[in-house]
Amino acid sequence: MSDDARWHDLGSVEELSRHSLRQITIGRTKIALTCQNGRFGAISGACNHVGGPLGDGRLDGDYVVCPWHHWKFHCRTGEGEPGFEKDCVPSYELKEEGGRLWINLMPTTRRNKLPHAPHPLARLVRREDGPVRVLGISTTVMDPAHPRYSTSEALLESALAAAGAMGAEARCVRLSDLKFRACEGYYSKSAHACTWPCSITQMDPADEMTEVYEGIVHWADVILLATPIRWGSASSLYYKMVERMNCVQNQVTIRNKVLLRNKVAAFIITGGQDNVQAVAGQMMGFFGEIGCLFPQFPYIAHSRGWAAEDMERNVAYVQQSESLHQAARELAGRAVNTAKVLLATQVEPEKVARGGRKGNQPMAPESPAEAAAVVEAG
Ligand code: FES
Repeated sequence: MSDDARWHDLGSVEELSRHSLRQITIGRTKIALTCQNGRFGAISGACNHVGGPLGDGRLDGDYVVCPWHHWKFHCRTGEGEPGFEKDCVPSYELKEEGGRLWINLMPTTRRNKLPHAPHPLARLVRREDGPVRVLGISTTVMDPAHPRYSTSEALLESALAAAGAMGAEARCVRLSDLKFRACEGYYSKSAHACTWPCSITQMDPADEMTEVYEGIVHWADVILLATPIRWGSASSLYYKMVERMNCVQNQVTIRNKVLLRNKVAAFIITGGQDNVQAVAGQMMGFFGEIGCLFPQFPYIAHSRGWAAEDMERNVAYVQQSESLHQAARELAGRAVNTAKVLLATQVEPEKVARGGRKGNQPMAPESPAEAAAVVEAG
């Protein structure tokens, strides 16, 4: 037993043995305490990844599974799962005396983090030289085997063609072509569990939201969103995409890291019945919160009206409406011109005090893992 042992009474063995896994905080030290068949184990309660509370996770055999992104550590040695043994969290000595369980707060083994290659999206956001770049995003749901005419997408195509004619680089992403998972609520576990790049993106290489993140965060100066109205709201694919973009806004909240600067968003909204202004307001609210600016008159829209139940005529109307297609071209022009002004002036600073917290104080800059490392080193 080392001379600098710091023994701490954790409590009654009988009571502690009722829980197979629990998180315990002693001062600023977090412990994941396990008990399997009467055998106790104690490792750090802060995960090596981004500090998830290991003691709030679950046991998989001898491994504690982190509740945030499912990394595993041996419940007594702190070693990472097989193949990653050296990626380990501190382990602690325990002893039982007089029906009490004691822990030596001087760790037996130390934390070691193996380098993990960062996801390509995690690179510095830096605008490369070149003309204004316009990313069109069509959120229309489509059966690829039987494509149909989408009024919002058709107007988006007119807008992108106009942007190209102005000398901009234009590209279109159709969400319907991408296979991507719905947000699984990492933010609901903890703001620090909702990472950039997105937790799903980092864990699932097959997930195709990467194309949207690349386009919006690293490439575009202008984002042109096109959506149909479905029961008074934007398309379900629009919401599926937006939920996955919480990680972009969350960076501003937790570390004042602004991923989108000097970018312009504009919107094309078409539908059968109305609710255009509510849909536009919701979209502007979200894109405003992730840091976009808007051109004057930031959306165009068309709907048949409350009493119209003749959508086949709606398609013909939009196909033939030179006015609507001209409006889409002009919207693209306003957005590109606004982007040119922003790029020339770089008006937005790299950090926006309280921007992500709507007036509240920013959260503590250090992650729980960083905080835990400080305690263990000290
Ligand atoms: S797996 Fe533990 S914090 Fe991500």
